[in-house]
Amino acid sequence: MKNSREQWGSRLGFILAASGSAVGLGNIWKYPHMAGQNGGAAFTVVYLLCILIVGLPILLGELAIGRKTQLSPVGAFNKLSNLSNWKWVGFLGVASAFVILSFYGVVGGWTLKYTLFALSGGFDSLSGSPDLSGQIFSEFIGSSLQPIFWQLIFMSFCMGIIIKGVKSGIEGGAKIMMPLILIILGLLVFKGLSLEGGKKGLEFLFKPKFSDLNPSSIVMALGHAFFTLSLGMGTMITYGSYLDEKQNLFTSAIWIILLDTFIAMLAGTAIFTIVFAMGADPSAGAGLIFVVLPTIFPQIGGGAVWGTLFFFILFMAALTSAISILEVITAYFIDEKGWSRNKATLLFGGIISLVGVFCSLSLGEFNITALLNISFFDFLDELSSKYMLPIGGALTALFILSKWSVKTFLVELLIGIKELKIEKSLLISILQILLIVSSLVVGLIIINELFDLLFNQSLQKMAGF
Ligand code: TRP
Repeated sequence: MKNSREQWGSRLGFILAASGSAVGLGNIWKYPHMAGQNGGAAFTVVYLLCILIVGLPILLGELAIGRKTQLSPVGAFNKLSNLSNWKWVGFLGVASAFVILSFYGVVGGWTLKYTLFALSGGFDSLSGSPDLSGQIFSEFIGSSLQPIFWQLIFMSFCMGIIIKGVKSGIEGGAKIMMPLILIILGLLVFKGLSLEGGKKGLEFLFKPKFSDLNPSSIVMALGHAFFTLSLGMGTMITYGSYLDEKQNLFTSAIWIILLDTFIAMLAGTAIFTIVFAMGADPSAGAGLIFVVLPTIFPQIGGGAVWGTLFFFILFMAALTSAISILEVITAYFIDEKGWSRNKATLLFGGIISLVGVFCSLSLGEFNITALLNISFFDFLDELSSKYMLPIGGALTALFILSKWSVKTFLVELLIGIKELKIEKSLLISILQILLIVSSLVVGLIIINELFDLLFNQSLQKMAGF
């Protein structure tokens, strides 16, 4: 079976696929409003530091584990730890993938619906009325059939790509979608900057406002650094497992980080220049994209086209991330159970779609977690982004530190690097420190969340901030 394992067709293809996983709703929807509200450039500086200190070492770790073993997470941890309990970190990854894709697919469906809504000129009737827009959006997501219909279409796209395999499916898709995302975002930025008053948006996003930066924004920046690079559930282990020995993992990781960050900033620029030029409310937070933007696109020249393009990139960004989530599950059944790609994709894509149906319904009348006082949708979102992913990431760092050893990790990293300008022992110490810091920091975030959950009291509050 090993010999028939697929590999990426080219280095560029791999970088586009991995950054396709990283670039998702987190970049276009979450980053802009988080940065805007938490100190602009001050937040971005903290976020970049978190990416370099916490994100980079774990990203490198995941890629190296995948390439070394040529296996997806469960098999990879099993192989490197001689069948010990570390394999549960792999299982945790597969479980996280299952949980995340269930609700990610629902939001993916919304992006499709809104692309067509914009295309049909439907935003015209919402022009300048955020209340009406908000009402239409909540009616849509709370209704039973419509969002499920779009979710199932989104999931079919996702399964269609995964069935085609690594090279023609995932890589082929990323090679088309990632350049399109960049080009269209570039056009939107251009449009936004050309609008009168648009430049004020740049100030909102990029001017450092250190007074708005508080401890909770730092925790937020940390969590986001982690989420945006798709770490903690073995996505990058899986994608790394399709790499061959010639690649320089370090420069690939830097490329992934640069593309991910660049796209988040482009998205923020496009959104806030348009929001400010039209005098809309920049602090609308999470509702900014689906509620506020549809009310302002009709007010700019060619608004239907710009609105359609915007939601279309949101759809593509969600799709390139969703496929990387499904691939973690598919690869597990192929590697460990010897299933065919078709069987694994269709069966688990189908089951996840079914769980997604309950997520979607939970925003309306039928909520299976009603007893917990939270919608099933939010339950899965919180469970994964607050607990499962950080725990998975911290355990990956601990695995490298305590089982695999930083030395062997470095040997894997150095393959493909022709010339080394730093002492090896120094590199080992740097990696060691970074991994210890990232597992501690991520551990702290998890403890903080648990405190918040159990005692409704976060550590920052207790420390008197
Ligand atoms: N990185 C994605 C985003 O920014 C979200 C995400 C988190 C993800 N973990 C993932 C995507 C794992 C794929 C796989 O939206």
